[in-house]
Amino acid sequence: MNKLKTILVGESSVGKTAIITQFVQESFMENYIPTYATEKSIKEVTFEVEGKEISKTLEIWDTVGQEKMRAVNKIFMKEAKLVILVYDITKQKSLDELKKYWYDQVIGINKKENISIAVVGNKSDLYEEQEVSSDIGKEYAKEINALFFESSAKDNESICLVFNSLTKDYYEKFLKPSPNDNHKPNPHPQPQPGKIVLNNPNPKPQGFFSKVASYCSIF
Ligand code: GTP
Repeated sequence: MNKLKTILVGESSVGKTAIITQFVQESFMENYIPTYATEKSIKEVTFEVEGKEISKTLEIWDTVGQEKMRAVNKIFMKEAKLVILVYDITKQKSLDELKKYWYDQVIGINKKENISIAVVGNKSDLYEEQEVSSDIGKEYAKEINALFFESSAKDNESICLVFNSLTKDYYEKFLKPSPNDNHKPNPHPQPQPGKIVLNNPNPKPQGFFSKVASYCSIF
């Protein structure tokens, strides 16, 4: 089975690179190094659907948040299956920009009907500086028919859950055989984020551009 192309988009400094690094390499860097070129990482996720264990491999693309460099992203957004719209809970502007710019960019390139989307409010460890309430984030996710999470790349809070739940959502919408027809996907999926049970602490780097793949599961 082909890898599922996954893209993270959002304003500069919301934590896209940090989320991917935490998910794939299980590490966090305090220093901010702007992303100037897109880079992909590979990781397998495992989840349960109706008592069956399903594994899918994600090809995860970081994108460039900085305004003057954004044009480079378009080419990498093509044929995305999973889209993670990231904002920073301490910056209202980062949610405004998802609404004003990033969502339209993604939808302009990939048909809404063919993708699964998650809205992620990152930096939940900085709750004392929170500018965007959870309710506002949730409301936006509901508006665009997306899953919603608050995460902390720093504390590794909900990071695995985001990727797993979104993959499961995509599987249930587009890949799962319906009970009546083994070839048609289920038209009424019910994503149900679960509990993380396993996360291998020893990912193995592979190649220059790809980083592979610890194991991340929800049941
Ligand atoms: P661009 O590359 O410019 O698009 O930014 P980005 O969205 O990839 O942001 P990046 O991951 O580089 O993180 C920006 C800064 O925020 C860095 O200093 C990170 O250490 C910090 N950061 C990222 N995630 C978190 C988090 O969950 N909590 C806290 N406290 N800081 C975070």
